[in-house]
Amino acid sequence: MAVTPESLSGQDVGSFAYLTIKDRIPQILTKAIDSLHRHKSEFFEKHGEEGMEAEKKAISLLSKLRNELQTDKPIIPLVEKFVDTDIWNQYLEHQGHLLHDSDEKPRWFYSPWLFVECYMYRRIHEAIIQSPPIDTFDVFRESKEQSFFESLESIRSLCACLQETLGTPDALHGERLKAEFFKFLQISLWGNKCDLSLSGGESRSQKTNIINSLEDLKPFILVNDMERLWSLLDKCRQAQGSAAVRVALVLDNSGFELVTDLVLADFLLTSKLATEIYFYGKMIPWFVSDTTARDFKWLIDQARQSGHQGVSKCGGDWGRYVETGRWVYRDHVFWTLPHEYSAMAQVAPDLYAELQMAQLVLFKGDLNYRKLTGDRKWEFTVPFHRALNGFHPAPLCSIRTLKAEIQVGLQPGQGEQLTASEPTWLTTGKYGVFQFDGPL
Ligand code: F6P
Ligand code: MG
Repeated sequence: MAVTPESLSGQDVGSFAYLTIKDRIPQILTKAIDSLHRHKSEFFEKHGEEGMEAEKKAISLLSKLRNELQTDKPIIPLVEKFVDTDIWNQYLEHQGHLLHDSDEKPRWFYSPWLFVECYMYRRIHEAIIQSPPIDTFDVFRESKEQSFFESLESIRSLCACLQETLGTPDALHGERLKAEFFKFLQISLWGNKCDLSLSGGESRSQKTNIINSLEDLKPFILVNDMERLWSLLDKCRQAQGSAAVRVALVLDNSGFELVTDLVLADFLLTSKLATEIYFYGKMIPWFVSDTTARDFKWLIDQARQSGHQGVSKCGGDWGRYVETGRWVYRDHVFWTLPHEYSAMAQVAPDLYAELQMAQLVLFKGDLNYRKLTGDRKWEFTVPFHRALNGFHPAPLCSIRTLKAEIQVGLQPGQGEQLTASEPTWLTTGKYGVFQFDGPL
């Protein structure tokens, strides 16, 4: 078994990890501070003087964090009691270092990038929970809602497309069913391009119409295991009888991407390729645009109240799926810890056991891919199964656009060829994968 390579980190000057820690993360912190400033009067209206004090305190805590980062101060333990504070501080103690057992304190540019970036978002959350009564404020809420409203045109055509498909009986059988499945999978893949942490919080709303460009986008799919997804679900359907077919969807960004995921989930349920969908979101605001329980509910309510017929039909259906338990939304602290997924079985055995109950687990987005593969410097041709490093709760598939310098499971020469022709292929979100691990 090849040794597990070292983690990506900011110590590699010029690497994407380095540029993220040096440039993008401070930019995201500044936007979080700006968001607090912009809500000053709202805090005063709601909470009076106390709200003003709280706003000042949260801003000073975030400014202190930005200074620690920009002057590469040692990474310090979390101090505010929260459900995961102890787990974080244990991690900081034992794994926050690049060089294990070094008595040095972990540092921003000399610790695993995955840990450092997750830690930064968890420190934002700590600053907010330390500032009651604004301790439930989501500094990213405005940008998440703005990206939804800016994508409304695309959302309307996507919902209309789904309603048309669901209203065409023979679209839900045989070869047509497979083609429609592949269509909604690809729409969900390219929906992942819209993420605010890559753009440093600049709006990346969905403007072009993805549905009409699927053929043009096909060459940018570097690993395409859609056939394996189809044969797995089609086999389940044939053998189904009364057994449940659960598809777990580990969510990524809210806004347009979430709509593409709910559209895919609706299609899976209505076509009977699945009988229940479990959605996994984030317990705290995360990587700017990641979906929280509030974002999930807000989006379905927005759709339900829409004046657009296709959107409101979707919203009504989606609300009913949740109310009748065919769609289940789940929170778990593990998704906002810094751990690689190969650690889930021992850090969060309850979550691992729950994923084992699914017939298929779909992981959306780049951060999930980094955690599936441990954010390590694997060779491009290492098999995905090996990079998962023992994480096999159920047949799983990463549906990801590339936004970090890590990709496995490529053909010999494929990565080198891309680097030669397009040096930024790993980090612009322009390329994507459907990467499956499960029974042949
Ligand atoms: O730096 C870009 C970045 O923050 C990566 O660190 C992270 O993996 C990615 O964006 C998040 O993308 P996604 O929303 O697809 O997980
Ligand atoms: Mg994200």
